[in-house]
Amino acid sequence: MALRRVAVLISGSGTNLQALIDATRSGRVPARIVRVVSDRPTAGGLARAARTGIPTAVIRPHDFESRGAFEEALDRLLREAEAEIVCLAGFMRVLGRAMVEGWAGRMLNIHPSLLPAFPGLEVHERVLEAGMPVTGCTVHFVTAEVDAGPVLVQGVVPVLPDDTPERLRARVLEVEHRAYPRALDLLVRGRAVVEGERVVVRDERPGERLLLHPLLARWTGP
Ligand code: GRF
Repeated sequence: MALRRVAVLISGSGTNLQALIDATRSGRVPARIVRVVSDRPTAGGLARAARTGIPTAVIRPHDFESRGAFEEALDRLLREAEAEIVCLAGFMRVLGRAMVEGWAGRMLNIHPSLLPAFPGLEVHERVLEAGMPVTGCTVHFVTAEVDAGPVLVQGVVPVLPDDTPERLRARVLEVEHRAYPRALDLLVRGRAVVEGERVVVRDERPGERLLLHPLLARWTGP
C-alpha cells in the first residue's frame, strides 16, 4: 500500500519519535516520516531524525510576534512537506483551534496517562500522590481541548509499591513506544474511524483488544 506521509513534532529527547522511525523504516507501519519539526533547537530528537536522513526544521515561537503567526508558519512548514498526518511526540506546546481544526482527524498526540485521568503536566507525580494502582499512556486524536479527543490506543502499566516518578516514567515510556506505532498503523490503514467522541476500530480481530494493552498480556499478577 502507498506510504502515507507523516510529520512528527517534538520538543525533547524524541524516544517516541525513534519508535515511529523504527516502525516505519522496518515497514511494519506503512508510512514515511517526511519531516521532523521542533520548537526547540536543542531537542535531542533532531539528531535522531538527522541520523536517519529525515529532513528537520526548527521553528521557535519567540521569533514570531504572536502565537497565531507562529502556528501559521508551522502549518505552512507541514504543508510544504506535503504531510498528510501529524504526530505530536513530546511537543510541549498547546496548539490553537485554527491549527487543530485544520488537521482534524489527521493529528495525533501521545500522553503519559490513561486519559481522561491526569491530563496536563507532572503526571507521574500526581498518579503516585493519588495512590493509583494502575496508570498507562494514551494516543488520541488532537482536538481544541488539551489532552482530550477520541482515543485510539491505550497501554496499561501497573504502579508498583516502590515506584518513584522516574521509575514510573521509564516503564510508561516503554509502553508508549509500542502504543504510538500501533495507533499510527490503525490510522494509516484506515482502520480507525471517529464516531462522535469515540474511535471505532474496523475489522478488529479476536484478541486484538488485548494487543492494544500490551502489558496486560504480560502482567499476570498478583
Ligand atoms: C512522553 O512521555 C510523551 O507522552 C509526553 O512527552 C514525553 C516525550 O518523550 N507527551 P520523548 O521526547 O518521546 O522521549
